[in-house]
Amino acid sequence: MVALASIALALLAVFHSHVSAQNLKDLANAKGRYFGGAFDLIEISNNANVNLLKQHVSMTTPENAMKWDATEPNPNQFVFGNADKTVAFAKANGIVVRGHTLVWHSQLPSWVTGGKWNNQTLTAAMTNHITKVMTHFKGQLVHWDVCNEIFNDDGTLRTSVFSQFIGEAFVSIAFRTARQVDPSVKLFINDFNLDSTNAKSAAMVNLVRRLRSQGVPIDGIGSQAHLIVGGISPTFKQALNNFAALGVQVALTELDIRMTLPASTAKLQQQQKDYQAVVSACMTIANCVGVEIWSMSDKFSWIPGVFQGQGAALPFDENFQKKAAFTGIVSALNGASTKAAFPNVGVKAAAGNNLIAQKTVTKTVKKTTTRTRTKTRAGAIQIGHP
Ligand code: G3I
Repeated sequence: MVALASIALALLAVFHSHVSAQNLKDLANAKGRYFGGAFDLIEISNNANVNLLKQHVSMTTPENAMKWDATEPNPNQFVFGNADKTVAFAKANGIVVRGHTLVWHSQLPSWVTGGKWNNQTLTAAMTNHITKVMTHFKGQLVHWDVCNEIFNDDGTLRTSVFSQFIGEAFVSIAFRTARQVDPSVKLFINDFNLDSTNAKSAAMVNLVRRLRSQGVPIDGIGSQAHLIVGGISPTFKQALNNFAALGVQVALTELDIRMTLPASTAKLQQQQKDYQAVVSACMTIANCVGVEIWSMSDKFSWIPGVFQGQGAALPFDENFQKKAAFTGIVSALNGASTKAAFPNVGVKAAAGNNLIAQKTVTKTVKKTTTRTRTKTRAGAIQIGHP
C-alpha cells in the first residue's frame, strides 16, 4: 500500500513538473487560452523548429497553404496537398488549426484579380471557393479567417476585386456562406494595425456591431499584431477591449515584434517588456481566446524579406534559442489573468496532453484509497480545464 502511494506521489511530481515546465501551451492552457505558432511547410522540415512547435504550441495556422492562390489556382480546380500536410502535422502533434484565409485581396490567382467579373459572377466564384475549401476541411479546424484585411488604415473599405464588384456585401455573403458550410468552426474577421484605438479599429467595431445586428455570423475578431519594439500603443489593450465588448471572441493572430537590426541587449530587453505587455493584455481580457506568433523563430520570419533592415521579431532566435522575449511571454502567462469566457477554444490539444497524464495517474492510484483518487482527478481537471 505504502509502495503504491509513493508511486502515485512520484507520478504526481512528474505531472506537476511537466505542467510547471515552461511550455507556453501548458501555461496558456492553465489560463483557458491557447498559445499558437504559425508555420509554412519548410518550417516543419527543420527538426529544431518542429521541436519548438511540439513543445510550445497548441494552435497553428498555415502561413500560406490555405490561401486562394494555393488552394484554387485555376477556376474550380482545387489543390489541398500542402494544406493537408499542415493539418496532418498538427493532428499528429495534438495541435488545433486556424484556417487562413478565405477572402483576401492578396495572394489571389490571376484569374481572380484579372477576371472579367460582375456582381453575380464574382459572388458565385467567391461562394464556390468558400464552399469547396471549407467542405474539404469540414470538422478539422477550430477557426477560419473568413475575411482578411478588408480595411484601409483610415477605416474605409479597402479597394479590392471583391469590394469593387460586390461592394461591402461581400463580407456578409462570405460569413453567411461559411456558417452554412461548417457550423462547427468559429468565423473570424482578421486585420492588422488594430493595435490602438485608431480609425481602423473603430471601423472594425462599427462594422462587426452592424453586421452582427443583422444576423451575420461573425464569431471573432483577429488582431494580427505585427508590432514594433518600443512602439506598443498605450491604447493597445483598450482596442482589444472594444472588440471584446461586442461579445465576440478576440485573438492575437499573427504576433511578432520587430526591431531595426542589429539586435542589441537594450532592444531585446525592450522586446521582452513588449511581449509581456501584449500577451498579458490577452490574458486579462475574458473574451481573448489566445495568442499566436507568426513563425516560431527568427530563422523563418517573414519580416526581413518585407521590411529591409528589420527582424529579430520572434521569441526564438535564428538558432532556435530562447530570447528575452520568451521570458516576457512566460511572465505574462504566469501573471494576472481574467477567467476565460471561452475556455474550450483551442485548448483541446494541451488538454489532450493533460488527459493522457490524467489517465496514467488515475490508473495507478486506482488501487490506493478513494481519497487519493478523488484528489488526483481534481488536480488533473483543474489543469486541463481551469
Ligand atoms: O510560392 C512561391 C514560390 O513558388 C516561389 O518559388 C517563392 C520564391 O520567393 O515564392 C513563393 O511565394 C512566397 C509565399 O510567401 C509562399 O512561400 C512569396 O514570395 C512570399 O512573399 C509569401 O510571403 C507570405 C506573405 O504572407 C505574402 O503576403 C508570408 O510567407 C506569410 O507569412 C505572409 O503572411 C501574411 C498573412 O497571411 C496576413 N497578414 C500579414 C502576414 C505577413 O505578410
